[in-house]
Amino acid sequence: MIVRKNIILMGFMGTGKSATGRLVAKRLDRPLVDMDAEIEQREQRSIRDIFLYDGEPYFRRVERDVVKELCERKNLVVATGGGVVINPENVRDFSRTGVVICLSAIPSVILQRVAVGTHRPLIEDGEKARKIKDLLEIRKPLYDAIPNQIDTTSLSPELTADRVIEIYEKAAGDAVGFR
Ligand code: S3P
Repeated sequence: MIVRKNIILMGFMGTGKSATGRLVAKRLDRPLVDMDAEIEQREQRSIRDIFLYDGEPYFRRVERDVVKELCERKNLVVATGGGVVINPENVRDFSRTGVVICLSAIPSVILQRVAVGTHRPLIEDGEKARKIKDLLEIRKPLYDAIPNQIDTTSLSPELTADRVIEIYEKAAGDAVGFR
């Protein structure tokens, strides 16, 4: 049986991970796991409520557990949550078991894209633009350290999906194995 490595989309909030993930999964006919949705399903409550009642450290622990489980599986397209890079073990495990691709965009475009949705408590209260800028600055070295990068600032999810598949297929030499 052919075993295909996972395709893992990382990157800050609003860089297009979920929208691109859906398209890539559809085109390659693979299951999509959207980590935020997976966490909400598991916890039977919204990300907003997880942060509100149990705090960020608890959320990160659940996120870490989900990463470990996804790394046991193959053939997936995974749209991660933007903070998955904070824990280096997440990046290490995903890189061992899949092709990791980091999406990025400039802050003003991120701001437009995160206008909808309630699953981003870290930028909810107060000045959103400032929060995005500050968080991006702190996390920039973590995102930049990922070898495969796509700047989605002026790319549609369709074009981003094309680039993801291109990068994946280039890595396909070691991305496809047999079991
Ligand atoms: C987070 C990003 C969110 C979600 C949570 C924390 C982050 O996911 O996991 O609010 O720390 O960047 P998206 O990147 O899908 O918005």
